Amino acid sequence: MHDGFTSAQDRAAFIAGLPKAELHLHIEGSLEPELMFELAQRNGIAIPFASVDEVRAAYAFSNLQDFLDIYYQGMAVLLTERDFYDLTAAYLSRAHADHVRHVEIFFDPQGHTERGVAFETVITGITRALDDAQAQHGISSKLILCFLRHLSEAEAEATLDEALPWLGRIDGVGLDSSEVGHPPSKFARVFARAKGLGLKIVAHAGEEGPPEYVHEALDLLKVDRIDHGNRSLEDPALVARLAAEGMTLTVCPLSNLKLCVVDDIAAHPLKTMLDAGLAATVNSDDPSYFGGYVGANYQAVADALDLSKADLVTLARNSFAGSFLGAEEKAKHLAAIDAYA
Ligand code: ADE
Ligand code: ZN
Repeated sequence: MHDGFTSAQDRAAFIAGLPKAELHLHIEGSLEPELMFELAQRNGIAIPFASVDEVRAAYAFSNLQDFLDIYYQGMAVLLTERDFYDLTAAYLSRAHADHVRHVEIFFDPQGHTERGVAFETVITGITRALDDAQAQHGISSKLILCFLRHLSEAEAEATLDEALPWLGRIDGVGLDSSEVGHPPSKFARVFARAKGLGLKIVAHAGEEGPPEYVHEALDLLKVDRIDHGNRSLEDPALVARLAAEGMTLTVCPLSNLKLCVVDDIAAHPLKTMLDAGLAATVNSDDPSYFGGYVGANYQAVADALDLSKADLVTLARNSFAGSFLGAEEKAKHLAAIDAYA
């Protein structure tokens, strides 16, 4: 057992109670099979699975695209404002159970508007649940609109136009979906417009795509955070730059395992990232599809990489420091972590 803990149980208890922020969570990826069935029934939608077990058995992926095909199919059960509320509320109660104090949630409006669901329906359902979680659980939140990179930049521009009336509730924009073949440069203009509107900027980069995509996210999109960033490690100059800039990486260990970004959780680069001085954080990405919420992600890497108490505290501190909270809020959470540790 590593420094700072007397046993595996001691470390597990420490992880469970550690105050955390989650910075990389696709709300549509938190749709549990049980809720998928309930919503399919409520909305009279046929789904190609006979049981919850059959759904879970289909969650065997050999790459990102395998997962995305099932993810877009799964979200077809989401139709009404209440559906988006129920989805978001279910995630937030799981996060609360994991001692998550702040969340920055992605949503994929194009996955819904292309099915005829109004942007307003999606955002009102999600934000109502975020407001209720603040009141009931004291969880604060930010909302990040992601553009689907397999679609065109013109479609991203049209989505940003639709978001304009809601900018009071949207804190940032991101870039997700099929990475390889859809570099950040494809979206340089729409991200420049979003930045001009005062929105924070994030992008998935270096999950499956090469280090060059991380460079583009930094240089062309002017990101405030990199989502994933694993393949940055192939480029020592890039690692040095990310460390020098204090750029937060939102790393997702169980996602990386399920999507075969790593072959084995024991080979996960999280500890290497920390040792290189990178501001890595631990997140769940699409927890219903990848087998665990944020607490389970911390636990999996702590066990596989034998993380110390100091490593775990660094990860939790990075999560608040890399969030889009104001300086005063960050200081309050960082003090709570120090008091806990
Ligand atoms: N959309 C949902 N999860 C994603 C991931 N891990 N990478 C890219 N797009 C996604
Ligand atoms: Zn993601």
